[in-house]
Amino acid sequence: MSHFGSIFLWVIYPYVMLASFFVGTFFRLRRPGTVTAKSSELLEKKQLIVGSILFHVGIIGVFGGHIIGIFIPESFTRSIGISDEFYHEFLALGFGGFFGACLLIGVLILIWRRFTNRRVFLNSSWSDLVVIAALGVTIVLGMLSSFVAGPMTAGFDYRQNISIWGRTLFVLQPHWQLMGGIPLMYKLHIVCGLAIFGFFPYTRLVHALYVPLQYLGRRFVVFRRYK
Ligand code: HEM
Repeated sequence: MSHFGSIFLWVIYPYVMLASFFVGTFFRLRRPGTVTAKSSELLEKKQLIVGSILFHVGIIGVFGGHIIGIFIPESFTRSIGISDEFYHEFLALGFGGFFGACLLIGVLILIWRRFTNRRVFLNSSWSDLVVIAALGVTIVLGMLSSFVAGPMTAGFDYRQNISIWGRTLFVLQPHWQLMGGIPLMYKLHIVCGLAIFGFFPYTRLVHALYVPLQYLGRRFVVFRRYK
């Protein structure tokens, strides 16, 4: 890839997506009434419960794993006695595998439900459809990176390139050169993952930032079945 191509992908594009995430979220949270995932529970419930629980358990675990994987350097885990092998084989693949599998099964159920249930589909906006499909693609690419591309690439360790690049982005000195040699699957996964962050504030995903505490004190709203 050309010099400019790499700088675009690993410097300009990430900053545009991160700026969009922070600025967009700031303005969206100033209009709290619009921060919602517009529930479709009344349209279909069974698949939603299973898919949504698996998805949310998975995303919380995978999100935590990403924060640890990117922000905690190898030098720190080594200094507290965790070897690189133990970290990758047990922590990253074990926990990442468990939560990644929950996330993958959850998102597949939610995609199936949204595209095949007529009532849910007709009540979905373009953004709802695109966002769930984009999540599906990103999650599949993430799993393929961890469990296929990573183990098949001898000597590859994402904490020696991707994690350092990620940390240097936040101190405004991105080491984009580190991203040149990583396997394509990881590149595709990260480009899609960053897009999710960039579009996050303008989609239903924004509800993740909002803990609806008003439900604790509010009176019940009673729904009854039509038939
Ligand atoms: C924004 C930038 C992102 C970066 C830099 C990133 C980086 C990574 C890396 C390095 C791995 C491989 C870990 C390993 O080999 O053990 C991975 C795996 C994974 N990623 Fe991401 N990711 C990003 C966004 C996302 C998003 C938005 C999602 C989901 C919505 C996601 C879901 C996954 C999944 C499911 C896996 C496989 C299971 C696991 O290791 O947890 N990633 N990601």
